[in-house]
Amino acid sequence: MAEHLETLLKTSRLYRPTAQTVERAYIKDYDAAYQASIANPERFWDGIAKELEWFSPWHTVLEWKYPWAKWFLGGTCNITCNCLDRHVRSWRSNKVAVIWVGEQGEERIFTYAELYRQVNRCANALTRLGMQQGDRVTIYLPKIPEQIIAMLACARLGLIHSVVYSGFSAPALESRIQDAEARLAITADYGYDRGTAIPLKPVVDKAVANCPTIEKTIVVRRDKQGGDLRAGRELDWDEWLEGESTACDARPLDAETPLYVLYTSGTTGKPKGVVHVHGGYMVGTYITTKYVFDLKDEDVYFCVADPGWVTGHSYIVYGPLLNGATVLMAEGKPDYPTPGRWWEIIEQYGVSIFYTTPTAIRLLMKYGEDWPQHHDLSTLRILGSVGEPINPEAWEWFHRVTGGDKPIMDTWWQTETGSILVTPLPCVPLKPGSATRPFPGIEADVVDKNGRSIGTGGGFAVIKKPWPSMMRTILNDPDRYLSYWNTIPGCYTAGDVCHKDDDGYFWFMGRADDVVKVAGNRIGTAEVESALVSHEAVVEAAVIGKPHQTAGEMIKGFVILKQGQQETPELIDHLKQHVQMELGKIAVPREIEIVTSLPKTRSGKIMRRVLKAKELGQDPGDISTLEE
Ligand code: WTA
Repeated sequence: MAEHLETLLKTSRLYRPTAQTVERAYIKDYDAAYQASIANPERFWDGIAKELEWFSPWHTVLEWKYPWAKWFLGGTCNITCNCLDRHVRSWRSNKVAVIWVGEQGEERIFTYAELYRQVNRCANALTRLGMQQGDRVTIYLPKIPEQIIAMLACARLGLIHSVVYSGFSAPALESRIQDAEARLAITADYGYDRGTAIPLKPVVDKAVANCPTIEKTIVVRRDKQGGDLRAGRELDWDEWLEGESTACDARPLDAETPLYVLYTSGTTGKPKGVVHVHGGYMVGTYITTKYVFDLKDEDVYFCVADPGWVTGHSYIVYGPLLNGATVLMAEGKPDYPTPGRWWEIIEQYGVSIFYTTPTAIRLLMKYGEDWPQHHDLSTLRILGSVGEPINPEAWEWFHRVTGGDKPIMDTWWQTETGSILVTPLPCVPLKPGSATRPFPGIEADVVDKNGRSIGTGGGFAVIKKPWPSMMRTILNDPDRYLSYWNTIPGCYTAGDVCHKDDDGYFWFMGRADDVVKVAGNRIGTAEVESALVSHEAVVEAAVIGKPHQTAGEMIKGFVILKQGQQETPELIDHLKQHVQMELGKIAVPREIEIVTSLPKTRSGKIMRRVLKAKELGQDPGDISTLEE
């Protein structure tokens, strides 16, 4: 890896922005803007927050009682006022807010005024069910507009939404509902995956059977024929909203009021509920969307994420709507029904900003350049990538097939950070594979394990000062929140290994902990291990991430079988199915190897690092603590 990086750094070409790109960008001189922001970050964030509407102003920008931060103290706001009301009162009222394209070729279009009315109806219906500020609502929906409507309706009332990606299985959904103690579940009858209808309601039924806090389930029925609902406990979305008023005032909330909880994987088997709040998250997602994508009113902004993940929260829903943008959201995979799908959408809707992932780019790369070449992509002006390191080959391909002159914003951030922290802006010269420099107001660095800045070279990515959109805690587990701030003294530790070059450019290399990024999705090895171990044939399991050409990383499991169990291809299949049932398709190991022992420390901890080195034919490093 290190050797590969050396040559990369030497050969890396610098792509300078065109004069036109710089001319129209909000930030024309990165260094000047960054230095000014960092000279007094609180003043910088204060100025940004003032671009938005508040019910009442704050008296203090930041209260920092290490490691607990509060932003915009005394201020009251509601993120939905800035996503909706602010635009509905302006000329944007009839501007398109959301274009939704379904996998079956359907199209639904919402103006700001229409989205506002739908959100209000949903909020009124939530109130009618007796939902109170602070209550949790679990949203388990496919990528359809109701997902945005439900999220905003919760936020409007100060309810806390917990969106769970609709690819998760019943046990995974169940544990997330239980941890959040949700009162309500919102789901749909079906999602679609490459033309196949995937029933979601049975997953919810199975999960809520063990969730006594759930009082009601709301079901968006895409197929009105299918599936009966249990009277009293289950409601049809349309019937639920019928007759509700399209007016509903947003509730004024203290800036630190929780907006949502979103579960993500870490180093233990239990996912962490990352908590974000109205005020700071609003400021962070608003300004990063605006500056990074140079978002203007005439843009059509297409982000391929699923609202079930943080990218969907911050860069499909909140960031773009805060800016009054036209957001395009497309259900389905990039290569269904053909590998021309996304290029076709870009041409058809005149997309100007396209935010995607390295995995998707590599997948489309496999199908060749003919597909993009068959489409007029001349409306594109800014591109984006997120979720995992983008390899220079994929970067160059993406750059070339889209015309060779559109800057790619390789945005680095995390569920915990709420918004983009290290990223190019359109005016910044690019090096393929590097997320370049910190966003204004963000003091990012690369340090050794004692927190000493390494200048140039490799180390751990950290953030040295609080920022508005940072998570406020981990739900029900403040100790886990603390661990982000006390692993390396005085800093927020991101858990990423990173290299900083002579120009101060950041090169994120992957996770330093036991988290694997499969197609950009964050999977904890411990979660997959406990799923494997819960199978009756398994005694012990260890899971590692391994490089994969398209997905970036893939999961490999090493399994010790119980005595008397035979290794057969059927058993391997069963184990895979079992993981799918426990966690969902995205967590299934691509490879499972049956072994008779696992490398462990004397205290019995599995040394995944050693397994991984062996698997990749590398030097395992220091193995003095190895038992055998
Ligand atoms: C990785 C996704 C390299 C990183 C927004 C981080 C990246 C984790 C990039 C967070 C990037 C995200 N380059 N690596 N541009 N963006 N990552 O919480 O390892 O799903 O820690 O948030 O994704 O994943 P999460």
